[in-house]
Amino acid sequence: MEKFYATTAIDYVNGAPHIGHAYEKILSDVIYRHFSQRCDNTFMLTGTDEHGIKIQKTAASRGITPKQLCDENSQQFKDAWKALNFDYSKFIRTTDDEHVSVVQHIFKKLVEQDDIYKHTYTGLYCSGCEAFLSEKDLTEDGLCPDHLKKPEVVEEENYFFRLTKYKEAIAKHIKQNPDFIIPSFRANEVLNQLENIEDISVSRAKTNVDWSIDVLDDSEQGIYVWIDALSNYITAIGYDTDGGNEQFKNLWPCDVHVIGKDILKFHSIYWIGILMALGLPLPKHIFAHGWITIDETKMSKSLGNVISPTSVLESFGLEQPDALRYYMATAAPCGKDGNYSDQDFKEKVNAHLANSMGNLLNRTLSMLVKYFDGDVKPEFKVQSDLTDKALNTVKEVMHKFDYFEIQEAAQKIMELVDETNKYVTDSEPWTLAKNGETDKCGQVLTTVLEVMCVVSSLIYPYCPNIAKSMAEQLSYDLSVKLTDIKSDNIKVGHLIDKADIHPVFLRLDSEFADKGKK
Ligand code: ME8
Ligand code: MG
Repeated sequence: MEKFYATTAIDYVNGAPHIGHAYEKILSDVIYRHFSQRCDNTFMLTGTDEHGIKIQKTAASRGITPKQLCDENSQQFKDAWKALNFDYSKFIRTTDDEHVSVVQHIFKKLVEQDDIYKHTYTGLYCSGCEAFLSEKDLTEDGLCPDHLKKPEVVEEENYFFRLTKYKEAIAKHIKQNPDFIIPSFRANEVLNQLENIEDISVSRAKTNVDWSIDVLDDSEQGIYVWIDALSNYITAIGYDTDGGNEQFKNLWPCDVHVIGKDILKFHSIYWIGILMALGLPLPKHIFAHGWITIDETKMSKSLGNVISPTSVLESFGLEQPDALRYYMATAAPCGKDGNYSDQDFKEKVNAHLANSMGNLLNRTLSMLVKYFDGDVKPEFKVQSDLTDKALNTVKEVMHKFDYFEIQEAAQKIMELVDETNKYVTDSEPWTLAKNGETDKCGQVLTTVLEVMCVVSSLIYPYCPNIAKSMAEQLSYDLSVKLTDIKSDNIKVGHLIDKADIHPVFLRLDSEFADKGKK
């Protein structure tokens, strides 16, 4: 693998980050950290989407300027991502000067090559979607199906993008590349939407939407928020209409756009059309994740059930985000919807991280200290059935990540942990020690520790701090690439003292669960 470039959706800043936004960023970070274990040249982009009518209205209602609102809320997203240990390479804001200027030139180029033209239009605009809807998109009551709001009738002279010109090419690309859209069951949905696609409005009259990037040479029009937003994936890494800088040439095309299923149309149709018009290569994958509910209910301000990721950390008294990262990253099978509940969070991380994984390491190291003063002897040969299984799990996990099956990959890791627990139970090292079968006992312990080295590498993308703590106690080098992992990590000699054995994850206490939420 030569390079890996991943992006998240950029979030609207008309509110604070919630657990649904966090879900996407955690998935993205897990993907990014995994591929950083396979490749040195990696880049992770995230950011905020700051223009549009919604921001303009929210700012007006609060009596502040749109820019003030954006500054305030964009910072909240940055703070939340820091608390979640999201290791992005760059945070782009669509109000950044460089972005604004390149978007203007992209637009101008498309006008000059007649991919964008002017046309008077009457349409139904949903500010929730920041998009024009057609009659047949609406519910029986004439509402936007996603936002349950009546769209606004807008009559304007707008610029239009000739999306229909690229329709056939887009369909062909989707059909010829079965893993372009992940999960693949969404590709048919996109192909159906593509059937009825029309040219799209890509500007709004400044008189109606003032908070937008100006169209160059036409001060009455502002660039449509989605053209502005989608372009972030190339402006952030150094694209310009002369072809872009070295970084751009090195990173583009992007390996994966991680987005929610609600914005798949914009990415797999609109964005692909624009890239084709710009003559740029297409992203390798678009990974559309599902929706997160709270206690099986859709999050909404009116229901008052919106949960912020930092409030979860606070209410459980968590100093590190590993448990929340693990829970969210494994909340749903690839592309399916998932759910957050306090109870389930607590049970799952207690079971997987504390009981199965953490305890296994802890009691194995403790036995090594108890029976052998923490020394690994030359006679302790590893049991290769189990270490082979561990190395095979590395391959399986990599394969899952190739298809962005993040929950499924974690399942493979936990299967390995379970099997190793079973190995300990079956081999009864404590009985071996009691019966004086010391070499055999040492062999069992060393084998488990060897597997735990592999487990720490595999769990690292989900739980970086826990993995580091495991690796430290194992004297294991966590920076090893996944393709180079072997099963000779535990060296003969003194491994650990009693005082240096620490639990890697403490069980969540039930009394925390209902305190101080939101
Ligand atoms: O759509 N569960 O911004 P956004 C899972 N600015 N994912 C969720 C979610 C939930 N409950 N709620 C939101 C936008 N998301 C545009 C994107 S990209 C060039 C522009 C996801 O703030 C949503 O699917 O409405 C999207 O991927 C991301 O959060 C930002 O949503
Ligand atoms: Mg949205």
